[in-house]
Amino acid sequence: MASFHPILFFLCYHFVFTSNGASASRRVFLFPESDQETSSIASNQYRTACHFQPPKNWMNDPNGPMHYNGVYHLFYQYNPYSVVAGNKSWGHSTSTDLINWTPQDPAIDRNKPYDINGCWSGSATILHGSKPVILYTGIDTEKRQVQNVAIPKNLSDPFLREWTKPDYNPIMEPIDGINASQFRDPMTAWHGSDGHWRVAVGAEIEGNGTAILYKSNDFVHWVRAASPLHTSRGSGMWECPDFYPVLSKGRQGLDTSENSRDVKHVLKMSLAETQSDHYMLGRYDLEKDVFVPDKTVDDYREWLRYDYGKFYASKTFFDEKKKRRILWSWLNESDSKADDLLKGWAGIQAVPRTIWLDSNGRQLVQWPVKELESLRRTGAHLHNTELKTGGLFEIKGVKASQANVEVDFELPNLEIAKPFDPSWLIDPPKLCRDEDASVQGGLGPFGLLILASPNLEEHTAVFFRVYKAHNRYRVLLCSDQRRSSLRPEVDKPAYGSFVDIDIKKEGKISLRTLIDHSVVESFAGGGRTCITARVYPEVLVTGDIHLYAFNNGTETIKVSKLQAWDMAKPWINVEGE
Ligand SMILES: *[C@@H]1O[C@H](CO)[C@@H](O)[C@H](O)[C@H]1NC(C)=O
Ligand SMILES: *[C@@H]1O[C@H](CO)[C@@H](O)[C@H](O)[C@H]1NC(C)=O
Ligand SMILES: *[C@@H]1O[C@H](CO)[C@@H](O)[C@H](O)[C@H]1NC(C)=O
Ligand SMILES: *[C@@H]1O[C@H](CO)[C@@H](O)[C@H](O)[C@H]1NC(C)=O
Ligand SMILES: *[C@@H]1O[C@H](CO)[C@@H](O)[C@H](O)[C@H]1NC(C)=O
Ligand SMILES: *[C@@H]1O[C@H](CO)[C@@H](O)[C@H](O)[C@H]1NC(C)=O
Repeated sequence: MASFHPILFFLCYHFVFTSNGASASRRVFLFPESDQETSSIASNQYRTACHFQPPKNWMNDPNGPMHYNGVYHLFYQYNPYSVVAGNKSWGHSTSTDLINWTPQDPAIDRNKPYDINGCWSGSATILHGSKPVILYTGIDTEKRQVQNVAIPKNLSDPFLREWTKPDYNPIMEPIDGINASQFRDPMTAWHGSDGHWRVAVGAEIEGNGTAILYKSNDFVHWVRAASPLHTSRGSGMWECPDFYPVLSKGRQGLDTSENSRDVKHVLKMSLAETQSDHYMLGRYDLEKDVFVPDKTVDDYREWLRYDYGKFYASKTFFDEKKKRRILWSWLNESDSKADDLLKGWAGIQAVPRTIWLDSNGRQLVQWPVKELESLRRTGAHLHNTELKTGGLFEIKGVKASQANVEVDFELPNLEIAKPFDPSWLIDPPKLCRDEDASVQGGLGPFGLLILASPNLEEHTAVFFRVYKAHNRYRVLLCSDQRRSSLRPEVDKPAYGSFVDIDIKKEGKISLRTLIDHSVVESFAGGGRTCITARVYPEVLVTGDIHLYAFNNGTETIKVSKLQAWDMAKPWINVEGE
């Protein structure tokens, strides 16, 4: 993390008054280190409306999400002092609907020898359905990573505002070959049929990513198991590991300890080296107490991902109220650190997603929690509209900066799809760069142009291409940010991945996109492939924003259904609710 010295900046502000009443400041400043001039805009239009974020300052990983006595809790890595990472404590908010959030005081702060240098990520476990416990990583006086417990001070407080740290902390220490700076992020614990609790902690041991397993019969004394839950050659540090059962058939979620029914297990790891979340499907071998993946692949690039865009340090929890498993994840900024300082905030959470196993058992499927739909207001609806080649269709009647779009594309003639090259499987983002929205194909590119300026100089293109492989069709989803903003200091990658659907059988492909100021979350094929992007267009500030559907393929396609809604702004961490 680079450090900034605001006092050394040479700042020069020009206030810009814009047509939509947005306040913005445009300025030029000099980095003392580089002498490079950067010009940028920090606008309140980049702040999201429907995504979880604290009122100000730095936020990263979601921590200890849970549902307890009718209240949802979300804790998060928070720097109470500044907009850059550091001084980590556990921010805390509560909700009854996962949409509106009430801010609470930080739940866990640095005040003990075993966490004085930071209260890092961890998880919540509800012991025997009645007593919540938090496990978290503390950075101790010697800067070692140790694992600690925190428990609610008063279980009758509906918001569990105060947490205490028992004197027996820390409960796990970096000994016996564990590197003290590679040992963190305890999982939600699960209960075995032998009456013992189990929990795994992320680590790196001689280059191998590892989830070290511990057991306890009282949640106080923990003993390291002979074998880790799982380890993998050469993938580097595993942060925020997550381990949970999913039903082989059906969308219902399961308690983390559940193992009696027909289940598969998911092991998720956040790879520190690449800052990306990956997961494996497999089974939990109760006898050996290890996770056994369906197939062992050494190259992490072939591991599955929840989201092929920006999505890190995610964590799930079982919502026993609605019997579903919900996924939270941190989305960091793509803007410059200097702009973060000016905006006064950095980091948001993705919209919470329900997660389940695809009926074919090959991957997980995600969909924004149903409650999000309560924010839908008036919108645009159309049916059976043709999109001719070169066609650009404006979706009017919604606020293009804060909308929710669902569209079904029907493909009348699959035969014209261009041939598929298997080497593309290695690097779909490269394919998205080479065959972007402006490169005419056979079937596709078609999709949405989001946060577009009137002359299309700025736009984020979320689109599909269909290719014909030996005996099946391949569907590519791209989210291309390269033209998303005219501002040079913003990170503007192109993301992409293939979507595991049988387009011949289904005849159409669906896309749902959540547009919320500086974030665009896309779900293709009913949530089988997800891509999240952060974008900072200048047009958000000037206000004349457009939303289009387009088709740049050689064949007419049909929009069999398109629905777009304005999204109301919920109460998210607004003080004095
Ligand atoms: C951390 O907190 C100390 C005060 O306790 C402050 O001096 C320092 O600037 C803070 N660092 C960050 C990165 O917030
Ligand atoms: C615990 O919380 C309940 C409900 O808020 C409150 O009535 C009670 O006084 C609290 N007990 C203590 C010891 O603070
Ligand atoms: C421990 O991890 C750090 C990286 O965080 C690394 O620099 C150091 O070499 C490791 N120590 C050993 C003994 O492997
Ligand atoms: C690293 O992982 C590989 C593959 O699982 C294993 O063969 C090797 O023994 C591991 N090394 C260590 C130090 O655990
Ligand atoms: C944070 O954002 C930067 C810039 O987009 C990116 O390079 C980095 O990988 C991101 N980190 C995480 C954890 O998402
Ligand atoms: C569609 O293709 C035309 C011709 O190549 C190009 O001018 C236009 O920018 C493309 N549309 C998009 C959205 O890239």
